[in-house]
Amino acid sequence: MQKTKKLGFIQWIKFKGWFIFDLPYFIKEQNLKNGLELGAKAGRSMYYMLKVNKNLKLAGIDLWEVIEGGAYKDNNKNEDKCRRKLNSFLDRVTLIKGDAKQIATNTENETYDFIYYDLQCKLMTSFHQEMIEKWLPKIKKGGVLIGRDFREFREAFYNLGFKETDFNSCKIGERVSVRLEYVVIK
Ligand SMILES: C[S@@+](CC[C@H](N)C(=O)[O-])C[C@H]1O[C@@H](n2cnc3c(N)ncnc32)[C@H](O)[C@@H]1O
Repeated sequence: MQKTKKLGFIQWIKFKGWFIFDLPYFIKEQNLKNGLELGAKAGRSMYYMLKVNKNLKLAGIDLWEVIEGGAYKDNNKNEDKCRRKLNSFLDRVTLIKGDAKQIATNTENETYDFIYYDLQCKLMTSFHQEMIEKWLPKIKKGGVLIGRDFREFREAFYNLGFKETDFNSCKIGERVSVRLEYVVIK
């Protein structure tokens, strides 16, 4: 993926603004009511999903530990930031601290209408396949696994039996998200 290099201003906004312009409205259009975000960090994407979708119940999981990468040097402070950011949605939010691989083991199958997968960081490089395999059964049949930049670890999906034709770009009306894709759970 070319990332932000050589993007015009509008394209740059579309690329960077997935959590404001794309994810919340895709969830609204799909009428999804009960979701989970893997990789809550400071609550940024959760905040917009909850703000736009007044009946959405949303859980978030994160390690909230300092991990490799400049964006994570203060990651241990993000639990507190996340809880404060989502303070006005307390009745609709559940936040869980820990390794999502282990938390999956204690989660009932077919719990969620959707999972938004946002665990891209160096620490996770070799673990996407294992993580996706553990969480797929937690989504209801007909539900969706949504992700940002799934292209960066397609191989993990192929190894789990997905084909390229299983990937759909998220659409909001006629507009196609630059970064968000989803697969439907059969
Ligand atoms: C790309 S950031 C998430 C960004 C966030 N969704 C946002 O909108 O700002 C990835 C997050 O995944 C978390 N993470 C990485 N590996 C994890 C694991 N095994 N279990 C739980 N969280 C993990 C990191 O702590 C980090 O906060």
